[in-house]
Amino acid sequence: MALKSPSKYILAIDQGTLTTRAMLFNQTGFKVAEIERPLRSFSPQSGWMEHDANEIWNAVQQVIATILINTSIQPQNIAAIGITNQRETTVVWDRQTGEPIYHAIGWQSQQSAKIARQLIASGHNEQFRDKTGLNVNPYFSATKIRWILDHVAGAQERAEAGDLLFGTIDSWIAWKLSEGAVHVTDYSNASRTMLFNIHTLQWDSELLNLLNIPAAMLPEVRSSSEIYATTKTFQFYGAEVPIAGIAGDQQAALFGQAGFEKGTVKNTYGPGSFIVMNTGDQPQLSQNNLITTIAYSINGKVTYALEGSIFVAGQAVDWLQDNLGMINNAFESREAALASTNEDEVYVVPAFSGLGAPYWDPEARGSVFGLTRGTNRNDFIKATLQSIAYQTKDVIETMKTDTGLSIPTLKADGGASRNTYLMQFQADILNTEVDRAAEEETTALGAAFLAGLAVDYWHNTDELRDVLDDGKLFKPAMAESKRHRLYRGWQNAVSATQMFKP
Ligand code: G3P
Repeated sequence: MALKSPSKYILAIDQGTLTTRAMLFNQTGFKVAEIERPLRSFSPQSGWMEHDANEIWNAVQQVIATILINTSIQPQNIAAIGITNQRETTVVWDRQTGEPIYHAIGWQSQQSAKIARQLIASGHNEQFRDKTGLNVNPYFSATKIRWILDHVAGAQERAEAGDLLFGTIDSWIAWKLSEGAVHVTDYSNASRTMLFNIHTLQWDSELLNLLNIPAAMLPEVRSSSEIYATTKTFQFYGAEVPIAGIAGDQQAALFGQAGFEKGTVKNTYGPGSFIVMNTGDQPQLSQNNLITTIAYSINGKVTYALEGSIFVAGQAVDWLQDNLGMINNAFESREAALASTNEDEVYVVPAFSGLGAPYWDPEARGSVFGLTRGTNRNDFIKATLQSIAYQTKDVIETMKTDTGLSIPTLKADGGASRNTYLMQFQADILNTEVDRAAEEETTALGAAFLAGLAVDYWHNTDELRDVLDDGKLFKPAMAESKRHRLYRGWQNAVSATQMFKP
């Protein structure tokens, strides 16, 4: 392919639960450089999960500066910036000072569970579901905003006076990068707030009233691919770079996997695991507790998706390492799983922060079943890896039921997709081919694609498809009887887990 602007790059910022990363992609979609900084989280009470929003912004500046210094690439050679982010995580800040009034409340945090319970108890779940595509749950931003307005002295009054702004992490970064010039988000992120009407494509005043959230706090909702503003911090280097792409990380991964066709399904095996199916230009409401969400919006056209959110996936492997000391690094989990010979199946249900789709049980807690005197470390590690694949199967089976579509291939990406044992077991337990992306960082690539389209770095989605290299295919090879037996055991383990409430 002839390069139209060979010396230019797209900078993707991927702000996640565990890290803040910057990546530079060239026009062939090749990742030229990557820098990351870890992100701390705080848990002031059991089940709470918070970040320092200023630490996030500082990390964004650091990774941008470092990647430019390390590569000697000038800001003038950045064609555009794409932002992708952990979704739902909620920041409320002062419009004048730019200071957050409380920590960013993380997507996993359960601190607003009581507010969610009250909404459900007073019969509002259906209303939220019909308008936003989401079941009422503390996972989404709305109850987190309400919690901040309730717990920070004077916050409600300041919000009503128009002095406070709310944003998911994309809004926060765009606002900071533009030095407050824009307070924006994109449709994909807005659709995770539980305040955005996915049919009218507007903030929903009825839902805002119900939660007493002033509309003045909310960002302007824009498409996922357009120039929102130019960076101001780059003025130090003599360049203003267009901020031209925004999408929530899971939707960005779908885009980065070239999931442009209706029916395409991807799973990103990150700390959590998020399975997203492109359902085309119409929202499809799930009958079985999946989320209806917005995948992206480009060229004035909104594309919808069904999503199954699994709260704990790769994090379960971190838990084996950090809390149980069973492995020294994630790679060891593959060797241990392959070394397990025990026929007595062990099941680990990693419901550390409740169960997500399709169960939506915030009170569930993790459990282990099937231990015998012969169970060893390898069996325990294998069961933990398998739990990621079982949870994925729960969601994929639900998607098939909801849509009536067959799913011939599951596209896979994300850190834990490097684990070939997990990928093969996933193919086996699903009885479906798993196609692991060549570029593991499809989330950042998706944000780069969205930004690149907006500035004509790439011109259309066909061109983006050509940019992607072939991945690795894992084919199912497990006998049907074994597959059924194993999965039945998992379903029993989940039922028993839900019965136990500490
Ligand atoms: O919905 C939460 C999701 O966006 C979190 O992403 O990969 O940063 O944990 P991650």
